Parts: sequence; structure tokens; C-alpha cells
Amino acid sequence: MAKITASVYTSHVPAIGAAIDLGKTHEPYWQPVFKGYEFSKQWMKDNKPDVIFLVYNDHATAFSLEMIPTFAIGTAAEFTPADEGWGPRPVPKVIGHPELASHIAQSVIQQDFDLTIVNKMDVDHGLTVPLSLMCGQPSKTNFAWPCPVIPFAVNVVQYPVPSGQRCFNLGKAIRKAVESFDQDLKVQIWGTGGMSHQLQGPRAGLINKEFDNAFLDKLIADPTAAAAIPHIDYVREAGSEGIELVMWLIARGAMSDVAGGPAPRVAHRFYHVPASNTAVGHLILENR
Ligand code: DHB
Ligand code: FE
Repeated sequence: MAKITASVYTSHVPAIGAAIDLGKTHEPYWQPVFKGYEFSKQWMKDNKPDVIFLVYNDHATAFSLEMIPTFAIGTAAEFTPADEGWGPRPVPKVIGHPELASHIAQSVIQQDFDLTIVNKMDVDHGLTVPLSLMCGQPSKTNFAWPCPVIPFAVNVVQYPVPSGQRCFNLGKAIRKAVESFDQDLKVQIWGTGGMSHQLQGPRAGLINKEFDNAFLDKLIADPTAAAAIPHIDYVREAGSEGIELVMWLIARGAMSDVAGGPAPRVAHRFYHVPASNTAVGHLILENR
């Protein structure tokens, strides 16, 4: 049986990817950001999963404004890093897990969540930057991510976007799906994006440390309360792009305490401002 071993939460700021790709991680501006992920890179080596189920959002890269699925699961054998305007990031292609992805699609759709099935898709910074932060830059001699990844794209770009509550409930359905897969696989679920940021309009540059830290506290200790936060609170308190945080609730809903198991262990918690226009938040929770 497959099982969810841990959940990982992290921001996905594109400038972080550029800092890594251009060798700027030791510059004074970036050093404190990357320091917060030193633990995480070692933790990934010590806790290598067989598959990562990576919840992220596409930024009008694979899906233009012509067609916007609310929830889309990548069932392909591989996914190519997208050209986001400056050429594709020099990172490995993402190897999928079509068998587990198809099983999750079957199970989650039968649990009444309507997923879009995507058999071909390029992936943008929303997916590649979290992989870079957690796994480091793959070496030239072994140019690959450490394991297969199932991309799971959530619409947080064009309203109406899904509620935190629906995302949390979807996480529960994903846990059931994973646990009914007939192979012994260690699966990590990652929720990415956030924390507070607003990229446009009169409030561009908004950061809210109090909201972000309260969100981290709630996500750890009272995820049901975190799931109840309405859209308007994210937008008002965390900025228009702060709504990306609903994706963290998918990962949190898949943890075993939500289904009556013991509370997860907080392996790592990190928060730093600024990185580009965004507050960087990061958590690792392990199932016991
Ligand atoms: C930034 C953050 C994002 O989440 C994004 O998708 C693009 C830019 C930023 O902080 O610059
Ligand atoms: Fe974003």
C-alpha cells in the first residue's frame, strides 16, 4: 500500500529560481532565504520519497486565459520546464508517475471531485522553484530530480478560485486515493505558493507578517480553522496573490491527523521577508 509520509509547504517566487540558476545564492540579499532551506535539502536526502505529489499553480503558462481548469492532474510520463519569457530554466525535465496519477484521478473523481486530466503540459516556476529549493541544483553528471513528480495544478489566477475548505476536503480525498494504491510507495505531498504578496495595483508590495505567522500556527495545530478562512481574508490580509495559500490546505488535508491519526511532527519551520515581492514561508510536517 502507498502512504503519505510527509507534507512540505513552500513559496515559489520566480526570482529564487533565477538566483539559483545565475549562481547568486551567496549574495547578501539571497543568503538568508537559502539558509532556511539548508535543513530541507538534507531532510530530502534523509527522507527520500518514491513520488512527490506536487500541488502548485500554473501562471498562464500551460493554461492561458482561454481555458482554466480548477483542478488539473498531470498523468503524463514527463513534463517539460516551460519558457516563461526568459527561456526555460536550466533544470531537468520532470518525470511523472502515470500509474499512480491515473489511480488518484480515478479515486478522487469517484469521490466527487472533478479533476481535469492533463496528458501533456509544460510546468512553470510554480513547480520548478519548490523542487529547486528542496532538492538543490541537480549535478551535470546526474541531471535529474530525485524522484518522479505528479503535478497537480490549481486555479488561483482567475476568479472564482476554489475555497480553502474545498481544497482541504480534496486533500482528504487524495490521502484516501494514495492509501488505496496497491504498491508500497512513500509519497510526499507538497503545497506551494504564498505567503503574503500582491504583484499589482495600489497595494503592490503588500506583506503581512502577522497574518502569515498566524496562518503557519493554524495550519500546524488547527488545520480545520485554517480551512475555514474565507477568500476575502486572504485577499484583504495577504494580498491578491496571497490566495495561493489555499493550495497549502490540499497538502494539509492529506495528513493522517485529519483522518483521526496522531498530530504530525513539525520537522522544520522557516519564514523570511523579503524575496522579490513575496514573504517566503516554509514548513515540513511528518506523519508519525
Ligand atoms: C512573484 C511571486 C509569485 O508568486 C509569482 O508567481 C511571480 C512573482 C514575486 O514575488 O515577484
Ligand atoms: Fe505565484
